[in-house]
Amino acid sequence: MIQRIAVLTSGGDAPGMNAAIRSVVRCGVAKGWKTFGVRNGFQGLINGTMEPLGTREVGGIMHRGGTVLGSARCDEFKTIEGRELAIRNLNQRGIDALVVIGGNGSQAGANALYEMGFPVVGIASTIDNDLVGSDITIGVDTALNIALEAIDRLKVTASSHQRAFIVEVMGRNCGYIALMSGLAGGAEAITLPEVETDPEQLAKELHKAYEQGKAHAIIVAAEGAEYNASRLTEYFAENRERLGFSIRSTTLGHVQRGGAPGAYDRILASRLGHGAVEAIDREEFGVLVGLNGNNIITTPYKMIAGKVKTLDPKVIELTQILD
Ligand code: F6P
Repeated sequence: MIQRIAVLTSGGDAPGMNAAIRSVVRCGVAKGWKTFGVRNGFQGLINGTMEPLGTREVGGIMHRGGTVLGSARCDEFKTIEGRELAIRNLNQRGIDALVVIGGNGSQAGANALYEMGFPVVGIASTIDNDLVGSDITIGVDTALNIALEAIDRLKVTASSHQRAFIVEVMGRNCGYIALMSGLAGGAEAITLPEVETDPEQLAKELHKAYEQGKAHAIIVAAEGAEYNASRLTEYFAENRERLGFSIRSTTLGHVQRGGAPGAYDRILASRLGHGAVEAIDREEFGVLVGLNGNNIITTPYKMIAGKVKTLDPKVIELTQILD
């Protein structure tokens, strides 16, 4: 019989994490459970910093970006000793199950805890959208919209000066944000970690566009691509005359993570939070709660571990037709 659960947010924060916390707490309350919020991710488990969270404590947080619980990347949790300490602290508080809201690294940590015998359920949350087990993760939609707004603005100034802008977006080793913001922003080119870029070819295409009188060019570069913003800028600097356009570069960085969550992320987070509580109620542990089509699903960690999410080749092809 479940009586007490704990919830934490881990890794890079993602807009919508607060809506997920709120949902876990309130769905837990509806089951008659007591919920504890753990401070600063796995570090809080090791330090034993957790407080009871009720319906009122999670009021007024859904529209806020970041995470009210705090987050961290915790090296100590990667050690057996760190995880043993975490389990001891959870047991001391009488916690029956833990909800981990986070991305790839955080879910790997959650799995390690589960494999040591502690009941864990994960919620897919990262702006990178690199988690197998969920079509889309909490934070992606808001981050994409922030990137898109930046691209739209850069296009305006690029047109005034007949410039090409390289816009670097986040995503770690996954090109999802670059691909989708490039598609939505009408980018002339996109560089991705998943696809090889021929910079010579790219330079030729840009030059052709310049010759044809195009007023601007937007190149969205994924931070994890071989040709990220700095490599591309370096390459173009050496080929400047042939390019036509003059080049400027903008790296969006953490700006993409800091926004207030949009409707899509709040709804997704609320649904995934509910899905996590339902999984705990069924005593289905060692799973990630994610979205498949329009359904909330659970996927066992063992089916996710070590797998890499791929980009849809049809979307890549489409961006090449539309550029
Ligand atoms: O995983 C989310 C993410 O924002 C990545 O896109 C990025 O590479 C990384 O986190 C940045 O990490 P940090 O916030 O630790 O600098």
